[in-house]
Amino acid sequence: MLSISLIKKFYESFISDQLVFLISVDEDRISGFVLGGDSYTITEIKKKFVRESFFRLFTYILFSPKIYPQILSRLKISKKQEPQKEQVPTTSFRLLSIGVDSEYKRSGIGSALIKGFEERAKRMGVRSYGLSVYKTNEKAISFYKKNDLKIEKETKNSLYFYKTLT
Ligand SMILES: CC(C)(COP(=O)(O)OP(=O)(O)OC[C@H]1O[C@@H](n2cnc3c(N)ncnc32)[C@H](O)[C@@H]1OP(=O)(O)O)[C@@H](O)C(=O)NCCC(=O)NCCS
Repeated sequence: MLSISLIKKFYESFISDQLVFLISVDEDRISGFVLGGDSYTITEIKKKFVRESFFRLFTYILFSPKIYPQILSRLKISKKQEPQKEQVPTTSFRLLSIGVDSEYKRSGIGSALIKGFEERAKRMGVRSYGLSVYKTNEKAISFYKKNDLKIEKETKNSLYFYKTLT
């Protein structure tokens, strides 16, 4: 498993005015979060993180043979579709990550975070957003459908959702 400090560093790198990063709080405890933004900015931040944490990531990957197939398929995808600012699709605004602490799940926090994310996105002039989820993540798929996201396309392992903001 990735170390907590590396996961913390990963998420800290996304604290930016150009992105939407919301947390829900119960007294002094974080109960959930949602993070997203335009795909160009997200890709640039990810690249910077990989450059800065290369050795730690490499060590983690080296000792985690289970994730080799996932890494290989990602490498194939990124070779085919090099991100270019001029060629961003209509759903270039992405919801990158959402999570709710297990003690707070299924009490509406995830849906409230999605609503907050959409409100912020609309204020930034965004008209639609998209996201991808592993097909095996049935809970998240049900969650996105419940929050009115529609299926845009599917690949072997993932479903892509989008939502038009009104
Ligand atoms: C997906 C997630 C963010 C939902 O957060 P949440 O606060 O539990 O969601 P809400 O309470 O607002 O919505 C609940 C809805 O989500 C779906 N859902 C959530 N947990 C579920 C479960 N255990 N089984 C089936 N459906 C589930 C259902 O549609 C549910 O509606 P219902 O209660 O009317 O059946 C949360 O389960 C989570 O953190 N999962 C792990 C991280 C993750 O998979 N993130 C998405 C990666 S793309």
